[in-house]
Amino acid sequence: MCGIIGVLSDHEVAPILLEALKRLEYRGYDSAGIATVQNGALDRRRAVGKLHNLSDLLVYEPLAGRIGIGHTRWATHGGPTVKNAHPHLAGRVVVVHNGIIENFRELKERMPGRSFESDTDTETVAHLCETFMEKGLSPREAAAETLKHLEGAFALAFLFEGEEDLIVAARKGSPLAIGHGDGEMYVGSDAIALSPLTDRITYLEEGDYAFVTRAGVEIHDVEGRLANRETRAIAAQAAQVDKAGHKHFMAKEIFEQPTVLSECLSYYASGDRVDVPDFQIDFAGTDRLIMVACGTAHYACQVAKYWFEQLAGLPCDVDIASEFRYREPPVSDRATALFVSQSGETADTLAALRYAREKARSVISIVNVAESSIARESDAALPILAGVEIGVASTKAFVNQLGALANLAILAGRQRGHLTEAREAELVTTLRSLPGLINQALALEERIRTVTGRIAEAQSVLFLGRGPMFPMALEGALKLKEISYIHAEGYASGELKHGPIALVDKSVPVIVLAPRDALFDKTVSNMQEVMARDGLVWLVSDAEGIEAAGHGVWETLVMPKVDPILAPLLYAVPAQLIAYHTALHKGTDVDQPRNLAKSVTVE
Ligand code: M6R
Repeated sequence: MCGIIGVLSDHEVAPILLEALKRLEYRGYDSAGIATVQNGALDRRRAVGKLHNLSDLLVYEPLAGRIGIGHTRWATHGGPTVKNAHPHLAGRVVVVHNGIIENFRELKERMPGRSFESDTDTETVAHLCETFMEKGLSPREAAAETLKHLEGAFALAFLFEGEEDLIVAARKGSPLAIGHGDGEMYVGSDAIALSPLTDRITYLEEGDYAFVTRAGVEIHDVEGRLANRETRAIAAQAAQVDKAGHKHFMAKEIFEQPTVLSECLSYYASGDRVDVPDFQIDFAGTDRLIMVACGTAHYACQVAKYWFEQLAGLPCDVDIASEFRYREPPVSDRATALFVSQSGETADTLAALRYAREKARSVISIVNVAESSIARESDAALPILAGVEIGVASTKAFVNQLGALANLAILAGRQRGHLTEAREAELVTTLRSLPGLINQALALEERIRTVTGRIAEAQSVLFLGRGPMFPMALEGALKLKEISYIHAEGYASGELKHGPIALVDKSVPVIVLAPRDALFDKTVSNMQEVMARDGLVWLVSDAEGIEAAGHGVWETLVMPKVDPILAPLLYAVPAQLIAYHTALHKGTDVDQPRNLAKSVTVE
């Protein structure tokens, strides 16, 4: 959620911290701040809102120093104000934090004499550390002692008055990496933050804390023992974070889909067979697949349920991670659990994985960030190869999650004797045709741009779909809500008459995602029910579908023809472009919509 950076250098660090915070802004943008030590003294600058406000402040009130920490915030405790912005200061200690200190109220009560400036949980950490220093502990000892008292999830970086060669970094539940430069050292929330600074990083493990100096890093495990953690090279992809000529990262990521999907599909299939490298799990021995995720990744799982059931005859449950983790669902030792996450760090998905690990036969994850916690804690971690996704609204990661899941469902179908060789070959061929079809769908952008002018005026929008297009309706509505702030709902076409049809009148656009499939006529009947109540139907279908049912609708969008079972990969494109262009018409902040953050590492 929040982004953390720390730099020990021989140069002024304020510009380096600011640049790194730019790369971390996708994690939160409610406020930003930096702190340094100069001539032994701590100083900080903080500003509300986007990072440019902090840059502007630094022009008038520069901050000197060759050691510093920085933070970009997604507010949890306390509103987005300057007093709540990080770094938080208490006496000789300043702290930046990502996560939630769950016992902060109790800790505050244990420090009755101290006065707190902010409404945050984080400030308690700085005060606690300061109280240990007042008792005579050194900065290193005080930080280590502080960590023992914290409950919840955190990545922390501490800086101390009088210490110009020490950052203490700690991780429990939220990711943190140490970067090794030439005579410089870094601390960062992720590889993206560190990528232009160094290509050598060490990930802290759960419970680790580290003393970082210009000479290197000393890492201790949760018990305080010295720990050896591998230093590895950052993948080149982490460095590619520019917009490549597009106005927004989201647009760049939508238009990258043909390329990244091709890469994903080449990984999962060779010739006309699915062939997953280094994947030992056999679906023939499992009696149930449990898929768990959040947000868009959860909708990818909902699409995949249709695939695993139809192509592999495998009973399938799909759950929202925040519900699954606390519901105590029975998980048999013959069940396979599958977790999908772009970031691989979503707190609820990670907790759900840890629950399932104790019970299930095997735990698989499908992630975009190969080094993530979810990947590391799975029996098998499968990549989606989408490249870095910066836009808060997930687009290419969704399509590549579908690409990976479709291949896995086909593999399961073969292993369980449910798919013929011929049908497998047919499906693999269709998957291979999808990047080309997605290109054709991207060419519909101008038409979508025109129609969304009217969508942008609506107070409420409905998306309808049937079969695997039902979760696509949910995803279309989520995308629209996220970036245009228009209320939108996705419904199974057949469910509309059970209540939501009461919402329909001439002001409500109803977007029907309906390739011509076996149940198309039923969807058309549902669409007619909407039109009979003056709803504005936008039918998104292939030429046959539009020919059969496009008369009298408000608008049509003619999509390329595709095997309906794999249509969600293609229909993701109009859903994304509808949201994108509606947001452009409304003038909202597409890449950094209000109240959201890309990586959700709190519950
Ligand atoms: O990193 P994850 O895939 O685990 O993230 C899950 C959701 O937070 C994410 O998909 C979110 O719903 C997106 N903003 C949707 O566009």
